[in-house]
This record gives sequence, C-alpha cells and structure tokens, in this order.
Amino acid sequence: MTFHLGLRARSFGGSQAMGRSIPASIRALWVSSEGLSWSKQDSVIAYAAVERVTKSGFSVNGLATSSGGSRKARRWYDGFGLMRIANKSVVPTLPNPRQCHMIIDCKPVLGKMSLQEISAYLEAKHPSNLGRSAIRKNLEDLGLASLEDLIRCIHSSTSDHLETWKKHYWSWAQHHLDLQRSKQNGSVYGSTGPHVLEKLRLSARESPIGSVYSLISSNLVAMFKDEVTPMELFHPGMNILEVGGGTGLGTQIFLRSPSGAGSGSLRCARYDFTDISPAFLPTIQEELKDNASQLRFSTLDLIQDFVKQAFEAASYDVVVGVDVLHLPSDLTMSPTDVRKALRPGGKLIMHEMFEPFGWTLGFVFGLFPGWWVGVDGEQHRTPGPSLTMEQWDLLLKGAGFNGIDLRLRDPDSLLTDNKSG
Ligand SMILES: C[S@@+](CC[C@H](N)C(=O)[O-])C[C@H]1O[C@@H](n2cnc3c(N)ncnc32)[C@H](O)[C@@H]1O
Repeated sequence: MTFHLGLRARSFGGSQAMGRSIPASIRALWVSSEGLSWSKQDSVIAYAAVERVTKSGFSVNGLATSSGGSRKARRWYDGFGLMRIANKSVVPTLPNPRQCHMIIDCKPVLGKMSLQEISAYLEAKHPSNLGRSAIRKNLEDLGLASLEDLIRCIHSSTSDHLETWKKHYWSWAQHHLDLQRSKQNGSVYGSTGPHVLEKLRLSARESPIGSVYSLISSNLVAMFKDEVTPMELFHPGMNILEVGGGTGLGTQIFLRSPSGAGSGSLRCARYDFTDISPAFLPTIQEELKDNASQLRFSTLDLIQDFVKQAFEAASYDVVVGVDVLHLPSDLTMSPTDVRKALRPGGKLIMHEMFEPFGWTLGFVFGLFPGWWVGVDGEQHRTPGPSLTMEQWDLLLKGAGFNGIDLRLRDPDSLLTDNKSG
C-alpha cells in the first residue's frame, strides 16, 4: 500500500491567493490499527498547526479524530513538509491552520502487484454480486420493453419517412427485439401489458443510471414524434425573461423556437413577459393564453434594480430583448441589470438595429417620443439611438458579459437593415 498525503486548503471562497504546494517530506505518520475509514454517520475532527515556515514552503503537524463520544484518534502526522511550486512572483499567503486539514488516501501500488492480486483487489472493491446483476437485468428488461413499445406506437408504415438517425435507431431496435423474441418465443412484454413497463421504470429509478433509462423510456415515443428532444430531457426547465416585450411581436417569433412542434407546450419551464408599460399586458396575455401555465406577465423597468421590482437575481437562463436595449438614455444601465438577472452561464439574446445610419426602424418608431430618449441623453447618440455591433460588444463586456458570442442577420426578405446578435 502507498499512502497519498495531500493538503486540502480552503481560502475564503477563493478570494485569498494561496501558494500552490506539493508534499515533499514527512517525519512520522501514525494510522490507527482500526484503519483509516470509519462509519458514515461519524464525522471527522481535524487539527492542524503550521510548525515551520521556510522560503521554499512550510511544514504542518496534524491529528484527526472521530467526532463520536470516544473521540478516537485515527491518524496523526508530524512534520509534513510542503514545497511551494507556485510562480515565485506571486507572494503566497500561508494557509490559516484552521482552514487546512489532511487528506490521506490508501492506493494500491499496481505496478508491484501480480495480475491475480489486482483482480482480487478489484473484485473486493467492486464485487460482481447479485445486486449489481439484478440492476443490469432490470435495465435490459426496461430497454427492451421500451423498444417494443416504440415499435408498437410508431408504425412501420411511418418508419420509412423518419429522419436518418431515427431510421437507424428503428432498425437497431428491431434487431435486438428479434434476437430477444427468438430466445423467448414471442413478445418481450406484450402479453402482460404496459403496466409492466411502468413497474420496470419505477424500479429502475432506484439507481442513478436507472433513472436515466427510466427518463428515456418515458419519453422515447415522444422523441420519435418530435414532441421532445434528448437535450430537453436532460436540461429541462429553462427560465426565460423578456424585457420590453411591448405588443409581443418579437415574443411570437421567439416562442416559435422554444415551442414544441404540435405539442402545444413551450420548451421552457417559465417565460416571463415584461414591459415598462402595463398597457400591453392584457392583450398579449389573451393572445398567449394557450400556454398560460408557463407564462407570467408583469411590468419591469429595465434600468431599475430588478430585485427591487420583485424579480429574483440570478434566476434566468435566457433574457430576451427585441429592439429595446438601446432605448435607455444611459446605456450602461440596462446590460448591467440584465446580467444580474441571469444565472452563471446564462445568455442574453437581443435583436437590435446595429447600423446607426440605417433608417427603416426609425421611419416607424421615430414617430414615438421614446425613440429619441437615447439621442437626447448624455451620450448624444446621433443620428439615431442605435449602436454598432462593436459598440455593443464593448458595452456588454463592460457589464461583465463575454461580449457578442454569435451574430445572426435578418434575411434580406424582411426588407430591413436590422441584425440580431
Ligand atoms: C421598439 S418597442 C419593441 C417592442 C417589442 N419588443 C416588439 O418586438 O415588438 C420597445 C418597447 O420597450 C418598452 N420600453 C421602453 N423603455 C423601457 C424600459 N426602461 N424598460 C422596459 N421596457 C421599456 C416600450 O414600452 C416598448 O414596448
């Protein structure tokens, strides 16, 4: 056996720079004869003290005990030396002893073991016991029963018109079902009915991999009918916020992509439609009433603090703004507030006219006083309120975004000089 020793140090949520160090020496290590591990109910109390600091590193003494009434000492080490390997120009902060504790791991030295010893070691770690094969059997039964259900629901007459990947999946399913039928002389589960499938799904959910099988089994037919995509299964529940939704012109277009073809439901957990003006809300609410359970309608001023307007910070996966983000007179405000609303990794989808000298939008919207707010504002955008793509990129970066990741142009057929990014 080898003992792997490491120092796991915590540094005020990562805000404090710490020298990266590697183990270099040890004076003494003591391990309880009862072994290194203890019952899961019991936690560990670790004590550590920095013993000595040198130019190249430091050494620590430490003790770990179980937390139960007996407080049994489990391991103790003396003079554990760590050598600093961080860039020498970085001035390290030594770990506060209260923040560091030892991790000690036992690893077999595979290079010094015979093949028989290795396989005995692996067998002891991962026994091929009955429990494991029962799980596998359940998964196989569930997979086959689900495939049979799929073939039953998607008739062979329609299978010719399937997309290529579905045709492959279909033939693959047929192949495995035929094999199974030849072994079993008949249907995989047909004689006992779909309730067996439900039972198999239920018992599969007891293991993590079984939960994935169960999820796929419940959605396999729907996937073949294009009602759900594999990605949605594993990333359900996107929350979307639309700012400055107005008459909902952009919303109607945008919702075509997240809505399932023919499924009637939107491919998101929640879509919050907002505008500064409450006047727009009743009409759009009526127009989108079929998806009422997933939609919410409320006022939101995008240059005021979202949280003070009862919107939860860091709770949206996507924020959508169609021809609205350029409107405020101070353009540093809106991206900053929008970013606060997004979860880490969230995306802003904006549609904007990116040519300040383009004229078609202004032809219509210039008739509304609000259009000129940005022109009258401190930044004096001229001749209209729009910004170039490069200006938006800078502005977004200033607010903490990556900048523009992807830009898509409107097709010429729309007869506009708009572009969306
Ligand atoms: C050019 S319209 C775009 C409307 C809509 N997105 C569309 O696709 O038709 C701009 C919208 O932004 C809204 N708006 C203006 N200032 C706003 C602000 N500070 N916060 C939120 N919405 C605002 C207006 O009420 C208006 O509905």
